[in-house]
Amino acid sequence: MDAIEVLKTRRSVRAYTAEPVPRKIIEDIVDCGRLAATGINIQPWEFVVVTAPEMRRKIAQTAEYGKFIAQAPVCVVVLCRDTEHYLEDGSAATENILLAARAHGLGSCWVAGDKKRYAPDICRLVEAPRGYKLVSLVPIGYPAETPEPPKRPLAEVLHWEKY
Ligand SMILES: Cc1cc2nc3c(=O)[nH]c(=O)nc-3n(C[C@H](O)[C@H](O)[C@H](O)COP(=O)(O)O)c2cc1C
Repeated sequence: MDAIEVLKTRRSVRAYTAEPVPRKIIEDIVDCGRLAATGINIQPWEFVVVTAPEMRRKIAQTAEYGKFIAQAPVCVVVLCRDTEHYLEDGSAATENILLAARAHGLGSCWVAGDKKRYAPDICRLVEAPRGYKLVSLVPIGYPAETPEPPKRPLAEVLHWEKY
């Protein structure tokens, strides 16, 4: 799959098969997160890969709209130091992770973290150092569904020169 196809076909997948994801692939996906754009190259991120079923269950119970994390073989917890642009930086890394997962034939979904009531609880669960923020949770696994959410057409959102 070329890069443009990856970008255009990525969708949030919330149902996964039980097939485990090879460690090398997980590392490659996180590596893509590591290489994201970041304000003044500060790279405030840390990535916690959770595979243990009990921990994934705890995360799933805690994250309001992330119950399917319990079913995914992997969950990447994206944390950032509380810097000026932590949210943009962590979001860029998160999007890279979603796209890298897609490129590897995997499904994933951005589950909200930042500013969520449960964010400090997740930080505690993964034993993040003080001062770190939860940006996102990214469950990853081989897809067991092919969602097709509606997308606004290009002609509606593209404005040349002025709005
Ligand atoms: C900041 C952000 C937070 C999100 N949080 C959740 C979430 O908590 N649970 C969930 O199931 N999906 C979540 N999503 C996924 C969106 O629902 C999804 O991207 C949107 O419906 C568009 O579908 P698509 O990703 O398949 O294009 C989130 C996406 C973003 C960007």
